[in-house]
Amino acid sequence: QDAVLDGYASFYEMELQQSPSAFYDTVAALMTTDHQAVVDQLSIDPYELQRIRKVVIIGCGTSYHAGLVGRYLIEHLARIPVEVDVASEYRYRDPILDADTLVVGISQSGESLETITALRECVASGARTIAITNVIGSQLSRVADGVLYTRAGPEISVASTKTHLAQVGALGMLAIYLGELKGVLYPDEASRRRQELIAMAELLRATLDRQSQWRAGIGDYLSREHFFFIGRNLLYPVAMEGALKMKELSYIAAEAYPAGELKHGPIAMLDEQAVVVALLGDDRLHEKMLGNIEEVRARGATILAVATDGDAGPDELADIVLRVPKSEALWSPLLMVLPLQVMAGWMAQARGYDLDKPRNLAKTVTVE
Ligand code: G6P
Repeated sequence: QDAVLDGYASFYEMELQQSPSAFYDTVAALMTTDHQAVVDQLSIDPYELQRIRKVVIIGCGTSYHAGLVGRYLIEHLARIPVEVDVASEYRYRDPILDADTLVVGISQSGESLETITALRECVASGARTIAITNVIGSQLSRVADGVLYTRAGPEISVASTKTHLAQVGALGMLAIYLGELKGVLYPDEASRRRQELIAMAELLRATLDRQSQWRAGIGDYLSREHFFFIGRNLLYPVAMEGALKMKELSYIAAEAYPAGELKHGPIAMLDEQAVVVALLGDDRLHEKMLGNIEEVRARGATILAVATDGDAGPDELADIVLRVPKSEALWSPLLMVLPLQVMAGWMAQARGYDLDKPRNLAKTVTVE
């Protein structure tokens, strides 16, 4: 195992560091060197995809969160309405599906029972279906019409890291392809978007190189017991994933909210003991988000902001600011999730927990 771990103390830490290559390999396999789509495993006729009027994305846990990011990508780049649900709920909603609906089932393992059974029912209802999975020949890949593989390599750690990045990369590629088919993106725009996306691999690496900067100052907060994660728009699912990582590894109460919703109830829980992790994007909601941070600051909570380089907005408001490089706002979920994954590992280590064997959890859940 030591040889496999390549000097890392856990699979969690090792796999987190493999995120840039997991992302790159996934995205690169879905495009040519001159940035055209490669969709030979999609097995759905482009004419059929052109007719799609609704996309449904289903998954569990971290895969579900990737789907929530995917919703923004597809709605923005392809202008198709997207619904996202956890697989175990979707199945029982008596879903409305037809041949003009595309259902995307996301599962790292391709073996999560709830995602497989939900997708199987979607196939029976006549919808077009795609699996996004990391395991070639997995059950999910066999149930769906077509597959987009993530190429993250084996993921051993129960808590997912690199496959989440790879899933968002695959969803980005799907969004661009649908946008091109729908005529929302001209071919040159589609290839520019693909170039932007693959260039994110370098930024992922540059972001992970900042861990010692992030660590400075964070030590004081590792023993706190109540964390809130807030974000807006594309960064709300990132907040959800940050809270999930902390729950999975540190067993502490971590909750995620869309920042605008805090004042409708959850803000009542805030006091001096709470830490609010605020994801501040470089986007049109930047000012609104600063207003939300002021609201929580006024309640005495400690504020840990994640912001991009050069953004002075959080300087006066936050107790600590973790910086990530600037990027196209649409792809910022890829960068912002990294400090949250890293921090969740530190929290668990500070409590003496085994990062690879979180209590009560299984890597793949094959019961309902
Ligand atoms: C389990 C794991 C999670 C994972 C989820 C979905 O609950 O503990 O880390 O996100 O299953 O797994 P899948 O293989 O379907 O992506």
